[in-house]
Amino acid sequence: MKYNFDEIIDRSKVNSKKWNPNLYKDTFNGHTDLLPLWVADMDFKVAQPILDAMRKVIDHGILGYTAPDEEYYQAIIQWNKKRKNCDIKKDWIVYTNGVVPAISFIIQNFTNEEDHILIQTPVYHPFRMSTENNNRKIITSSLINNNGYYTIDFEDFEKKIKENNIKLFILCNPHNPVGRVWKKDELLKIAEICLKYNVLIISDEIHSDLIFKEHSHTSFLTLDEKYWKNLFVCTAPSKTFNLAGIQTSLILIPNPELKLKYQTALGKVRIENPNTFGIEGVKAGYLHGEEWLEQVLEYLDNNRKFIQKFLAEKIPSAKYTLPEGTYLAWINLSEALKGEKIEEFFENKAKVAIDYGNWFGEEGEGYIRLNFACPKSILEEALNRIYNALK
Ligand SMILES: Cc1ncc(COP(=O)(O)O)c(C=O)c1O
Repeated sequence: MKYNFDEIIDRSKVNSKKWNPNLYKDTFNGHTDLLPLWVADMDFKVAQPILDAMRKVIDHGILGYTAPDEEYYQAIIQWNKKRKNCDIKKDWIVYTNGVVPAISFIIQNFTNEEDHILIQTPVYHPFRMSTENNNRKIITSSLINNNGYYTIDFEDFEKKIKENNIKLFILCNPHNPVGRVWKKDELLKIAEICLKYNVLIISDEIHSDLIFKEHSHTSFLTLDEKYWKNLFVCTAPSKTFNLAGIQTSLILIPNPELKLKYQTALGKVRIENPNTFGIEGVKAGYLHGEEWLEQVLEYLDNNRKFIQKFLAEKIPSAKYTLPEGTYLAWINLSEALKGEKIEEFFENKAKVAIDYGNWFGEEGEGYIRLNFACPKSILEEALNRIYNALK
């Protein structure tokens, strides 16, 4: 089936966090007239097999308690084998209503107050929030920005771990917002250092199905088993199939002792069962969503390149490197803005809602993160607004 990702679906009157002005205005100083390209979900209609599966639930008419069945586990296992060459065992899989709540839960149950947690900035800001809201201390190791292509400063990474007695490291792979898909040799170096200092690792791989053709995702679970001792891998069908609203994500824990400790802690709060739509969404996505995903990836590939062309032609002072994965463009506008306050520019002049770079760390000052998982006409409109406001 051929999907039409050019279709514009009005999300402003439903409870879309990204689009409904009443819901986004608090983030953007009360502004209600912005074109939203911020929150990381897609403006594309979900794959038909997923919608059909949900409709079946509705038509059945009863929304009682549900629990995962064998097909749910097999769907997860098959998908990860096929798409990421990852051999997942059923015993490793734990349902969570979100990767972010799971990260907080791991922090609460596997570290102590005042412990130090390492992140690589600029990075997805809830990593910092989950740490600080739980009275743990954040330590940052800045990525090296080589003219827009980010790499890891391994010397600094190891030094920070050693000097701060780091208990937990939160990895983002692919990396939101800089778009790097970490290579095997980079992950091996991380894994070696974390093993040496006995550091717990959360590998957040939620964007791992959104990889552009010339790159491939390496899961931490494809590294040698000796690196799994202290490992939690976070994944989900939510970014992949645009299902964030059904609140069904997954934590994979290959070390049985760690898994038991996680389950025991989970037993205290008993957040155990996915909602009815979640189960059907996971199954339908992983079993029948591949055709849709392939088409989305092609569309996203064109959008990421469209941004590159647009900026090169019209705003050459903006610096942008094609992301290797994710649907997020990380754009350095510091030169283009010539010292103008970025919030004022976007909210009063360009009228576009994006994520401000400094949300991700001080390294992001002057940057924006723009979500290009939208119809091309919306993307073009947003870029034109930025261009015209700069003029
Ligand atoms: C790196 C990363 N992790 C986690 C999440 C959110 O995951 P969840 O909706 O499962 O809490 C996002 C959403 O943007 C993300 O970019």
